[in-house]
Amino acid sequence: MNKFKRYLVTTALPYANGPVHIGHLAGVYIPADIYVRYLRSKGEDVILIGGSDEHGVPITIKAKKEGITPQDVVDKYHTIIKKSFQEFGITFDVYSRTTSKTHYDTASEFFKNLYDKGEFIEKTTKQFYDQKENQFLADRYITGTCPHCGYEEAYGDQCEKCGTSLNATDLINPKSALSGNVPVLKDTKHWFLPLDKYQPFLEKWILNEHKEWKPNVYGQCKSWFDIGLQPRAVSRDLNWGVPVPVEGADGKVLYVWFDAPIGYISATKELTKDWEKYWKQDDTKLVHFIGKDNIVFHCIMFPAMLKAEGSFILPENVPANEFLNLEGNKISTSKNWAVWLHEYLQDFPDKQDVLRYVLTANAPETKDNDFTWKDFQTRNNNELVAILGNFVNRSVVLTHKYFNGSVPEITQLNDYDKEVLGQFSIIKKSVEKSIESFRLREALKEAMSLARLGNKYLADTEPWKIIKTDEDRVKTILNISLQISANLSILIEPFLPFTAKKLCALLNIEQLKWDGFSQEILKSGHEINKPILLFDKIQDEDVENQLNKLAATKKANEENKNLNPLKEDISFDDFSKLDIRLGTIIEAEKVPKTKKLLKLTVDTGIDKRTVVSGISEFYDPKKIIGKQVTILLNLIPRKIKGIESQGMILMAENTDGELSFVSPEKKFKNGSQIS
Ligand code: MF3
Ligand code: ZN
Repeated sequence: MNKFKRYLVTTALPYANGPVHIGHLAGVYIPADIYVRYLRSKGEDVILIGGSDEHGVPITIKAKKEGITPQDVVDKYHTIIKKSFQEFGITFDVYSRTTSKTHYDTASEFFKNLYDKGEFIEKTTKQFYDQKENQFLADRYITGTCPHCGYEEAYGDQCEKCGTSLNATDLINPKSALSGNVPVLKDTKHWFLPLDKYQPFLEKWILNEHKEWKPNVYGQCKSWFDIGLQPRAVSRDLNWGVPVPVEGADGKVLYVWFDAPIGYISATKELTKDWEKYWKQDDTKLVHFIGKDNIVFHCIMFPAMLKAEGSFILPENVPANEFLNLEGNKISTSKNWAVWLHEYLQDFPDKQDVLRYVLTANAPETKDNDFTWKDFQTRNNNELVAILGNFVNRSVVLTHKYFNGSVPEITQLNDYDKEVLGQFSIIKKSVEKSIESFRLREALKEAMSLARLGNKYLADTEPWKIIKTDEDRVKTILNISLQISANLSILIEPFLPFTAKKLCALLNIEQLKWDGFSQEILKSGHEINKPILLFDKIQDEDVENQLNKLAATKKANEENKNLNPLKEDISFDDFSKLDIRLGTIIEAEKVPKTKKLLKLTVDTGIDKRTVVSGISEFYDPKKIIGKQVTILLNLIPRKIKGIESQGMILMAENTDGELSFVSPEKKFKNGSQIS
């Protein structure tokens, strides 16, 4: 017996710092949508909760790069993301955002509650601080040399070259990504949730009481327990997020992974006054759909928060998926290696269900999987067109041809007919079982097996061959074929809602609920509509277009690989402060005991001055006398190896680190201004 009276289904809140792609859809949103559409069809009380995750450091970095505010960033992407989900038929009951007022209130209150109960540990730790920008630096804001591989541009949380995850304090020569300054370590106070305290509870709850969870989820939790849980900071020094609602917490916000899951609660509040019924009653089944990188937060951290609060239920299941790759490579937003949902619909208008189908048939349920355009084409042409589309089309076309579009009656059932009809409920039951255990690939396959059955039935009985001699037999065959089609409209609805709608229109019926499943949905004499095709073929050239697009991305990535990212915008005033002119090198010699330095005398048209320049590996001093170069004149003089350098020769540097003078295309008078 089902002890649950209602379902609360959540989907990971995507970060609002970019659009959503097929990986999001395959991993989280399609599975969740299938599950809730199925439950609704069964008449269950179910709500699907979603929203955008609008806090966190990457959003602030993106804003800074683009010279806009974090709010601008999230406003833009929240709108794009929400629209994509709508277009793909993801049936959220509410799609909210973590910058909403309700969320700020809910998250603050949640923190305050735990704080008042003494659930947090207050700790002062040392954190990098940028004295020029007057702010603490998130790990991502610090770059330096990786202690493992020597890569000079490693981030404070991870080296992108060797993949090691780091602490900012591990970096050699740390630099602030904001100002380029050397950051200093400074004391800062934070609040920690003592996960270690909850380990015995969590361990029992998951390892003993939820052995049915997917092996990838269960296994990841187990390995966290094996390592041993540690207190985890739930606040950050940042000016973007929900402010920490206690005295003496200026400049501190809730850690994004503390506030975001509370977003599920805030969104439910926005949806219904009855939100507590969903969140606080034991007869609610709470299910979190997420990707594998979110497992620890949904199985350990959020449950610990809920448990500490005390009045909330915990998830009954967390069916996390693995990752979807694209044409053999990891999907990457920054490398633009993705199929963006809004772009897909430009290239394949009205083909939402094709993508829903392919992403479900090939979902990364138990291991990472690869999306390829070839597979997309094959599944469309060989499965959707050749099996589902073809079967329905033949049933409808033959009914029009022989019986004017009116459903014929069953005259007599033979053993084969009975066997086919008997399959209906068997198939239905196996779809149910698979969906309820979150095996959606399998469920889709089962649903498709009804179309396969229909195709085989028509191929075996060949009504077109006997219409002249045995019209009665043909009546029975087409009746059964149409009943199969009608039942398909129920079975495929969770997976292919757009197609189910078309199919219902074609059969001239309302969308039926799950319990409408029967051997006689269509009464004899019922008029069906004129044939339309449910699917059409994807052409080779469509596949080629997509592959070409990806190839272009790859090429662009390779060309840009080692280029530094764009610097922050400056005003024209900032630029015009630079006094850059043409000058000619009139003397040059090596600086003793150095590898790289040359001491140059430059005729600037205004004076003759000494400049020390690190170009000795690339230029022979004898050969550069008389060379006209560009020089920055108003740089404050600096002593380099005891020599005062009065300016800087401007050099171009290629991606291999080689230097080249920047010389005018025509020889001009020394002292000519560059602007
Ligand atoms: N924004 C996170 C991610 O994309 C997911 C947050 S899920 C949450 O990985 F709901 F807990 F917020
Ligand atoms: Zn490294």
